Amino acid sequence: MKTIVAGNWKMNLDPAQSIDLVSSLKAGLVKFPNTECVIFPPYTSITLLSELLSGSIIKLGAQNIHPEESGAFTGEVSALMIKNYCSHVILGHSERRIIFGETDDFINRKVLTSLKSGITPILCVGETLKQREAGLALSVCLDQLIKGLAGIKPENLSQVVVAYEPVWAIGTGMSASPVIAQEIMGSLRNQFSEKISKEISEIPFLYGGSVNADNAIDFAKEKDINGALVGGASLDANAFIQIAKSMVDGK
Ligand code: 13P
Repeated sequence: MKTIVAGNWKMNLDPAQSIDLVSSLKAGLVKFPNTECVIFPPYTSITLLSELLSGSIIKLGAQNIHPEESGAFTGEVSALMIKNYCSHVILGHSERRIIFGETDDFINRKVLTSLKSGITPILCVGETLKQREAGLALSVCLDQLIKGLAGIKPENLSQVVVAYEPVWAIGTGMSASPVIAQEIMGSLRNQFSEKISKEISEIPFLYGGSVNADNAIDFAKEKDINGALVGGASLDANAFIQIAKSMVDGK
């Protein structure tokens, strides 16, 4: 199973700042065996960074796409527009679900569009604190996973990546413990495998939520954690490089 270290920059860094960060990443990130490092800058930096990263081991991804290929969707960006620059796209992030009201059905349409365009979707699932406290963490995540991946043929499932990002751990500095993350991620794999498709056992599962240079190694040691989706710490080149190293060393 390959390891993926993904940096979600969210709505941060203008083009000049993006170039600075990528220059530091290029200087510091070495090629790790069987490992992909992918950064997700804002759209405004994608074409610039694509030139800067040509021939580099660092891949580029987008933070979102619209399900349609083109049309009257003011403010949106389609898979066709990014497919020459981006290998991955983040879909179903809790910020899009909660702040922008994205439904499982809408997210599923984007997942199918990304696969059709040859872009690897990173489907995010995760429960809120209220849902966790009500004992619903696994059922909420499994429901998001099943609905998000609906309609994908088993032979195409290998092109998908899943990220478990508990909402209460995002940007709070309060990461899930590696044991809690492993428990949910292992159960998600097992239950999806039993109910829907065994192919889920072959795709990478990433943990996201307050991953930093100090705690990454403990997540990497868990059996069902194949990488990290990093928010805040991915804006600091040294921290992101250390996280990438830890994700490899911990395996
Ligand atoms: P933080 O690492 O800032 O908690 O964000 C996680 C995240 O949302 C990555 O997609």
